[in-house]
Amino acid sequence: MNIFPETHRFLNRHDKETLLKQKGLAIWMCGLSGSGKSTIANAAERVLHQQGRFTVILDGDNIRSGLNANLGFSDEDRLENIRRIAELAKILVDNGVIVFISAITPRGELRDLARGIVGEKNLFETYVKASYEACEERDVKGLYAKATKGEIANFTGQASSFEPPQFPDITLDTEALSIEEAAIELVEAILPKIRRS
Ligand code: ADX
Repeated sequence: MNIFPETHRFLNRHDKETLLKQKGLAIWMCGLSGSGKSTIANAAERVLHQQGRFTVILDGDNIRSGLNANLGFSDEDRLENIRRIAELAKILVDNGVIVFISAITPRGELRDLARGIVGEKNLFETYVKASYEACEERDVKGLYAKATKGEIANFTGQASSFEPPQFPDITLDTEALSIEEAAIELVEAILPKIRRS
């Protein structure tokens, strides 16, 4: 009530995309903690940056340290986490930015929410695939060891489920591909979507 959102006086998406010489796109990367989402996002961003593209990474761990610091890992909080990240991604995409989102986004319901907010044609669903066992083996942050000892509530893949996406736009299997290979595959897949005709 008493809120009047407006955009008609603002420069529009086309103006921003013309300046940036690219099209906005949200590359939504889901997968288990430690599957390689952030690492691939980082590598792919560097490739695009070198090609003169303007990119932003919205990383689950970083966003949870600031904007979403009041949220935990209950189903309700994960939904709010994804809702806020998606709203932020939408603003950026509407301003012509290529946005990498690296957030576990463990369930179809959450991915549908994100797609609904960002818009079907603006979202490129990327499944960064690695088994629980492979992530546990890597355990870069030491979280899997803690979860095994029962020290992390609602840990994804353990006490809290991870549903693999059914029809992702791309699957990057990090047990089979190197980070560089996965990043190149991702960049090649999105190029037609970020190129201005
Ligand atoms: S999401 O499920 O809401 O999409 P998000 O990607 O933002 O998760 O945050 C996941 C990160 O939070 C993990 O990479 C890990 O570092 C940390 N984390 C802390 N507690 C948990 C937990 N219970 N389950 C999963 N990740 C956790």
